[in-house]
Amino acid sequence: MPSPRQINIGSNNRLPARRWRRRRAPGPTRAAIYRVPVGAGSEWEGEAGNWLRWARTEGHDAYWAYRRPFFETIVPAPGARTVEVGCGEGRVSRDLSARGHRTVGIDLSPTLLRLARDADPDGTYLLADGSALPLADASCDIVVAYNSLMDIADMDAAVAEASRVLVPGGRLCVCVTHPMSNTGRFDTSEADASFVVTETYFGRRRFEGVEARDGLTMTFRGWSYPLEDYARAFERAGLLIELVREPLPDATAPHLLRWRRVPLFLHLRAVRS
Ligand SMILES: C[S@@+](CC[C@H](N)C(=O)[O-])C[C@H]1O[C@@H](n2cnc3c(N)ncnc32)[C@H](O)[C@@H]1O
Repeated sequence: MPSPRQINIGSNNRLPARRWRRRRAPGPTRAAIYRVPVGAGSEWEGEAGNWLRWARTEGHDAYWAYRRPFFETIVPAPGARTVEVGCGEGRVSRDLSARGHRTVGIDLSPTLLRLARDADPDGTYLLADGSALPLADASCDIVVAYNSLMDIADMDAAVAEASRVLVPGGRLCVCVTHPMSNTGRFDTSEADASFVVTETYFGRRRFEGVEARDGLTMTFRGWSYPLEDYARAFERAGLLIELVREPLPDATAPHLLRWRRVPLFLHLRAVRS
């Protein structure tokens, strides 16, 4: 657990103080946000331009075909503060805000944070490491980690930090690539393609791969984990898993039909005991 030094938010984080006061609800106060030294940068910084195009081209990646079950089933009604860990250019945080959440987006990539702020000038976005959150203990009702736990170098620490900043009864809402989907690949992109297992399911494993489609290219890097590793991280952090879902993509996404046979994502919700 980090021992953050309490400070007033300065210009480095560009937290809009006046706006923050206006938006503040009963519950955690401004003093609940700290500055914590940020260590090594995100591998995503170098991919920021590619990710911007990939993530903001509506319908291009799987987010558009999977977000509905996440927001409808996994994310509870808003409380005083929702934190998104690994917010990237900010689309999940913007979707949360549109649903009434007072959201703080956290990311390690300065360029992605700038893009998130540009797209949502009223939002709060902080440069910080998900495994050393700049937030006080028990200062948030909901933590969302949407496709970020596999990208954060220390997944265990990120889960422990999420738990630390949650109030008792608060929820950690997670989307990760399904451990099953990490074991192999489809041999084509057709709906009836064969899924070929090429990797060992068990153990933490590094992945790195380039995806190119419809004129857009993106290099994805991170780690894959078996289900048990996530469950053990939750156990250690005092988080009780209350929802497990293996969502199907919208039938309106023809390029994802094969993922109606093998799960692409895993949705989890855990409660802080
Ligand atoms: C796949 S992107 C997801 C972005 C966003 N949640 C979405 O779904 O559009 C993963 C994000 O995690 C961020 N990230 C990686 N390591 C991190 C860390 N240690 N702390 C905070 N964010 C991190 C990356 O910079 C990147 O923006």
